[in-house]
Amino acid sequence: MRMYDVIKKKRDGAELTTEEIRFVVHGYTRGEIPDYQMAAFLMAVYFKGMNERETYDLTIAMLESGDRLDLRSLKGIKLDKHSSGGVGDKITFVVLPIAASFGVKIVKMSGRGLGHTGGTIDKLESIPGMRTSLSKEEFVKIVDEIGFAIASQTENLAPADKKIYALRDATATVENLSLIASSIVSKKLAAGADAMVFDVKVGCGAFMKDFDQAKKLAFLMLDIVRRHGKKAKAVLSNMDQPLGKMVGNSLEVIEAVECLRGEGPKDVIELSFTLVKEMLDLAGLKVSFSDIESMVRSNEPLKRFKKFIELQGGDPNVVDDPFKLPISRNVVEVRSDRDGYVARLDAEAIGRACVFLGGGRSKKEDNIDHSVGIELLKKVSDRVRTGDVLAKVYYSNRSDLDSALALVRSAYVLSTHSVEPPSTVFEVIE
Ligand code: URA
Repeated sequence: MRMYDVIKKKRDGAELTTEEIRFVVHGYTRGEIPDYQMAAFLMAVYFKGMNERETYDLTIAMLESGDRLDLRSLKGIKLDKHSSGGVGDKITFVVLPIAASFGVKIVKMSGRGLGHTGGTIDKLESIPGMRTSLSKEEFVKIVDEIGFAIASQTENLAPADKKIYALRDATATVENLSLIASSIVSKKLAAGADAMVFDVKVGCGAFMKDFDQAKKLAFLMLDIVRRHGKKAKAVLSNMDQPLGKMVGNSLEVIEAVECLRGEGPKDVIELSFTLVKEMLDLAGLKVSFSDIESMVRSNEPLKRFKKFIELQGGDPNVVDDPFKLPISRNVVEVRSDRDGYVARLDAEAIGRACVFLGGGRSKKEDNIDHSVGIELLKKVSDRVRTGDVLAKVYYSNRSDLDSALALVRSAYVLSTHSVEPPSTVFEVIE
């Protein structure tokens, strides 16, 4: 079989066989297919799409590219959650310690920033000393001790996703249903959970801009998981504006800690509690929002988060002293030039501004600047007066600043009429 022929077949819109899909995934993972051919293949898939059977085969080939975690030593049902990608999405750091405090086990394999969206692994690595590349034994040991751990893909675990994900990020081939579904689900199946909840984002800052596409993605992922004999649910959530007030790696860790203290922004709390509730439901535990609130007030989730940082090699003191995190001291305020109400706050523009500042990657090899980001002081429906600070931009290099500032300014649309606060959670798909 020749890669050239497979690329041409997909470019011309034909359906690929299981063998052809396995050839591409395994050949690329083993380094036998070069980046330029894989990039062309991904672009062909982006334009021509894959049907459900091809998407299932792609997911399974990606899963089979590496090992699976053996979780038999962990008692009880093992859970996982995954977001389809958004801006300001620090939800994992809030959900995992809370859910684990109810006694369930969560095995989470996460990714890095993708396109204009942030990545859990990049955010975690803003904590000095934090390790996300864990051996299988260490991963399982940490989950056993505190109820959860977060690891990145490795040469052994979901290696195909690790390579393809990085290439998609640099070749504008992220926004495709089959590529997203296979990337997410192959990681989840490799990590070995019995049941999982997908947080499927919809809106201008999500990869799925409209409701129909987001629902399609949700059903596609649920279907693959069920065919594989596992349980799953999907939560459709709003990504028209960023989640919470903080966007950027260190800044988002700070906001997650605030939420674990019970003080975070309403939208982050609402979505986190919804995901905790649905995850626990899959484990057979029925809890209400007020049970979750009491758990947060007990301080147990915050203690677990601290212990988690320590066990993965990070400095747990960042929880009590956020100034131990790298946060740039160079700050510019963006002020409003008129009175009104925030009618729109474009999440994609804010995500792209963060990438411009160095908080995300433009090329595969780029290093992340964990200290930069954007603090959103005004969000949709807030009243604004002339001169009010809309946002603060934390930057390292002046040369990146002008483009980022222009994007932040363009993200805000004001109206003279009052605006209803938007919903955070749209629907739970069982
Ligand atoms: N998250 C992933 O893990 N993969 C994608 O393709 C998008 C979001």
